Amino acid sequence: MFRLFLLLILICKVYSNPPDDPIKCSSSPTKKCTITNSYGAFPDRTLCRASDVAYPTTEQDLISLVALATKNKRNIKVSTRFSHSLPKLVCPDGEDGLVISTKFLNRTLETDHLSMTMSFETGVTLRDLISEAAKAGLALPYAPYWWGVTVGGMIGTGAHGSSLWGVGSAVHDYVVGLRIVTPAGPEDGYAKVWTLSNGDPDLNAARVSLGVLGVISQVTLRLQPIFKRSITFLEKDDSDLGDQVGSLGNQHEFADMTWYPSQRKVIYRIDDRVSSNVSGNGLNNFTPFRSTLSAVVAALRTAEEVQELRGDANGKCIDGKLATSTLKLTAYGYTNNGIIFTGYPVVGYHNHLQSSGTCLDSHENGKITMCPWDHRVKGLFFHQTAFSISLSNVKSFIQDVQKLVDLEPKALCVLDLYNGILMRYVKASSAFLGKQEDGVDFDITYYRSKDPMTPRLYEDILEEVEQLGLFKYGGFPHWGKNRNVAFDGAIKKYKNVGEFLKVKARYDPLGIFSSNWTDQLLGLKNGVTMVQEGCALEGLCVCSQDVHCAPSKGYYCRPGRVYKDARVCTKLS
Ligand SMILES: Cc1cc2nc3c(=O)[nH]c(=O)nc-3n(C[C@H](O)[C@H](O)[C@H](O)COP(=O)(O)OP(=O)(O)OC[C@H]3O[C@@H](n4cnc5c(N)ncnc54)[C@H](O)[C@@H]3O)c2cc1C
Ligand SMILES: *[C@@H]1O[C@H](CO)[C@@H](O)[C@H](O)[C@H]1NC(C)=O
Ligand SMILES: *[C@@H]1O[C@H](CO)[C@@H](O)[C@H](O)[C@H]1NC(C)=O
Ligand SMILES: *[C@@H]1O[C@H](CO)[C@@H](O)[C@H](O)[C@H]1NC(C)=O
Repeated sequence: MFRLFLLLILICKVYSNPPDDPIKCSSSPTKKCTITNSYGAFPDRTLCRASDVAYPTTEQDLISLVALATKNKRNIKVSTRFSHSLPKLVCPDGEDGLVISTKFLNRTLETDHLSMTMSFETGVTLRDLISEAAKAGLALPYAPYWWGVTVGGMIGTGAHGSSLWGVGSAVHDYVVGLRIVTPAGPEDGYAKVWTLSNGDPDLNAARVSLGVLGVISQVTLRLQPIFKRSITFLEKDDSDLGDQVGSLGNQHEFADMTWYPSQRKVIYRIDDRVSSNVSGNGLNNFTPFRSTLSAVVAALRTAEEVQELRGDANGKCIDGKLATSTLKLTAYGYTNNGIIFTGYPVVGYHNHLQSSGTCLDSHENGKITMCPWDHRVKGLFFHQTAFSISLSNVKSFIQDVQKLVDLEPKALCVLDLYNGILMRYVKASSAFLGKQEDGVDFDITYYRSKDPMTPRLYEDILEEVEQLGLFKYGGFPHWGKNRNVAFDGAIKKYKNVGEFLKVKARYDPLGIFSSNWTDQLLGLKNGVTMVQEGCALEGLCVCSQDVHCAPSKGYYCRPGRVYKDARVCTKLS
């Protein structure tokens, strides 16, 4: 059966469909536009609107656009080629805003071999960044695992890979300079370009800006000479995971962990730099980021929906095991030579191993295969909860999750279809909205119903994990992922938020680049959470009354099982 699956993947590559454009405008003269993300749904499921969208191709275009909108006091937001962030960062307020897309700001600019820096326009995707750098013999040492993100989006939200080495795994910590276009007064022609370089304190605001300072036109990154890596995935039981986490990140430069709590298993990524004379030409074509037959994805989704409807936890555990063992058998899509997998270690060049995403490949001649989360077909639809916990708290957090698994052994099978919990190392950053401490980022992906009022299987256990991470252990939410609850009070965890807001007040005093949502995130307005009927089901609130859950379907607001301060939607029979 598995061979068949692979064969279908190969055949259908030819007919693969690129991801949808997140921006749609009507052709009528009124030109109303809607903006969404790559999943087709924000946490609150609203659709964002704008009265027009601009596609600048030069910095000069950006200046004119910002000037005109500033003069007219219009709200501006920056969108990217695919718009991968889950939260509503890309939405202007109301219906009359302007969206500036960086889709055509995608040129690679200068390379300075002496200082090993390269400059990029901010619409360059990670895929192009990696390949352009490789052509120059250079490499960005750490980066997200997914090719589809852009330079502007990565630094806008603090995106990262996994490492505790050097200055850590976040892309923004390799930024040594950037150019940003901001609003200005009439004396400056309503727009201004700032050039920030290393040592300029404003750079610490611009390196993770949530898009609220202005449009970043170019970014200069400090790179390294290209190198090779050697990767082995090692499966172990999770009994000592809490202790392993503390040492693995110091031992292996690119270490990460994929945890399947209900199977009580962990896959450790043993991943290090090796000398370039070690032979190997390995390739990472991570299976979940490949083009997949829409019929296969639809079948997976249907099976999951039926299990949800029937409350079939056993079914979820069986399918979850099948999914994870299939991935393991096929080495997660890694090969030793670009064609077949013959065994670990996989050795190869960094630029072939760091990230992947062949489902981005564009062939407009069919609609048979696509990224598994494509919302134009019946695809996977999920919530994402991602937070980093400081190294000193990680062990206790893991043990609390393990206690939950002891109490409800099948509950976290619901994660296995989404490849478990990805755990990656992040380091403290000098960026004002970057990580405050060295820690581990936990990335959790799980079923989301198409109907916002329908509760999920073991909803309570995942809500408890979310609240444990964010509230008991003070986790820092990933700015580009998460449901609203994750951001409740989050800004108070950043000691330099005051410095950030001062820069914002200087760069954009009128708030042209702000929205209600970014004001709420930054603590300038109330209302990150939305208290209404059923709000806890979608993570729009933490429940405080039964009506925030789904009492008519048997789900009531109750304290957590391990973390008594948690309030979760529990099914009572
Ligand atoms: C399949 C998948 C895998 C992922 N893997 C990872 C991962 O491994 N690690 C990780 O950290 N994250 C990961 N993410 C999350 C992703 O990194 C973040 O959501 C990322 O920020 C999205 O980048 P984007 O280019 O799509 O930006 P968008 O989501 O479009 O934009 C993000 C923010 O940046 C702002 N912005 C973008 N460009 C500019 C600019 N030029 N000037 C000013 N503001 C700008 C936008 O206005 C918005 O506020 C993944 C997401 C997906 C869908
Ligand atoms: C944004 O907030 C203002 C007041 O703070 C309110 O009048 C407006 O309706 C809000 N807009 C949206 C789109 O929520
Ligand atoms: C920039 O993006 C456009 C549209 O996606 C594409 O056609 C073009 O080839 C890209 N240019 C570069 C230099 O990558
Ligand atoms: C590989 O290179 C290192 C130095 O970089 C050298 O010490 C080692 O002997 C070389 N190994 C082989 C097999 O050539």
